[in-house]
Amino acid sequence: MRTLIKNGHIVTAVDSYTADLLVDGETIVMIGKDLSAVVGTVDKTIDATGKLVIPGGIDPHTHMDLPFGGTASADDFETGTRAAAFGGTTTIIDFAVQYKGQALNEALDVWFAKAQGKAVADYGFHMICTDLPDERLPELKALIDQGVSSFKLFMAYPGVFLVDDGTIFKAMTAAGEHGGLICMHAENGVVIDVLVKRALAAGYTAPKYHALTRPTKAEAEGVHRAIAIAEMANSPVYIVHLSCHDALKEVQHARDLGLPAFAETCPQYLLLDYSYYEKEGFEGAKYVMTPPLRDRENQEQLWKGLRSNDLQVISTDHCPFCMKEQKELGRDDFSKIPNGGPGVENRMSLIYHHGVNAGRINLNRFVELTSTAAAKIFGLFPRKGTIAVGSDADIVIFDPNREQTISAATHHMRVDYSAYEGWTVKGVTEIVLSRGNVIVENGEWKGKAGAGRFVKRGTFA
Ligand code: URP
Ligand code: ZN
Ligand code: ZN
Repeated sequence: MRTLIKNGHIVTAVDSYTADLLVDGETIVMIGKDLSAVVGTVDKTIDATGKLVIPGGIDPHTHMDLPFGGTASADDFETGTRAAAFGGTTTIIDFAVQYKGQALNEALDVWFAKAQGKAVADYGFHMICTDLPDERLPELKALIDQGVSSFKLFMAYPGVFLVDDGTIFKAMTAAGEHGGLICMHAENGVVIDVLVKRALAAGYTAPKYHALTRPTKAEAEGVHRAIAIAEMANSPVYIVHLSCHDALKEVQHARDLGLPAFAETCPQYLLLDYSYYEKEGFEGAKYVMTPPLRDRENQEQLWKGLRSNDLQVISTDHCPFCMKEQKELGRDDFSKIPNGGPGVENRMSLIYHHGVNAGRINLNRFVELTSTAAAKIFGLFPRKGTIAVGSDADIVIFDPNREQTISAATHHMRVDYSAYEGWTVKGVTEIVLSRGNVIVENGEWKGKAGAGRFVKRGTFA
């Protein structure tokens, strides 16, 4: 299959120009001012006049089919990657989980079984490690060799995911030696647990107490500790879902010292705030996620961090639970509300609208934050994350002038609410190619289950 994309405005993290682009099979093979000469040799021509031609989005933080909080996240690899594609994201890096006593390889096999035959677009895995005695540390290298080159460790959720500081230090040393990257859920979960128990003992059960028992200082302390342990281990660290100014200051300080500390934030922390927990009745449960939404003044600080490159990536932490039968599990006890929210489909449009249209970031930075930086940090570049000859033809044709109103009634995520219900965004994904195959065209689904491939990632450069 050869596809010619005519007259689009190609934007990468560094370039911005109008040109034609030729896709042959799965790869971009030619970019030129005028490729009319190849018209007779192609199977399909797409007129991209007035449209942006950008690299497919990479969301390096999703949870498809994740057993969590007594239930499982509502999107599986088919519905989740399909929704991602509708929103312009063509690669996800999802989190496999190693449970206590399990070999890392065994855990990986479980996640392969969830994704294979289902994912409609490409996927990689990080491995969440919950049990790393010394004899298991060599398994980190074995996973890196298989293309699973990053690992998530938790300082939160004692008794479920939390690992102690000694384990963090050993894992960072072992992973760092072989080009692996530790992704840290940085929150002081031990202190948070005390706060949660105190709140419940005092009869505070409503969703807003999820936020009130997770202070920004608990996150900042976790970030500080994660970076300090990484420095002692002589390894890089990547802070996931950073939500607040207190935590950002820790990353900024480390980066000013020249330490290899990296961090992502998510649309919900840039655009939603604590007031959502004060909504009527049980509505606040929609926003129960960890870290929680913060006070509004944090938002502009996070945008500033994105501009100054103290934050490098915008992911979603897509971890949807329906209100019906899932969030409801915590109707009488906020600590039983499954933690997480939907967003994989909305990321690109939300960031384009509130970032580029609002004058907070430019077009190149938009591409960098939603695609290129994740590709570089997580060992996918330049195969993915850019528009270049030789790169995978993961391409989004994006209409910067079309408006769309976000709603659960029309979204493709398998979840019964939208965190952004009724919001209008200007800048919408129109056509999506995944390795050369058109999978979304003007709102219509053209992809197929199982077409997504596991992407073996390289080491942290
Ligand atoms: O609330 C969240 N973030 N759920 C997903 C698990 C995690 O910590 O990323
Ligand atoms: Zn987390
Ligand atoms: Zn997560």
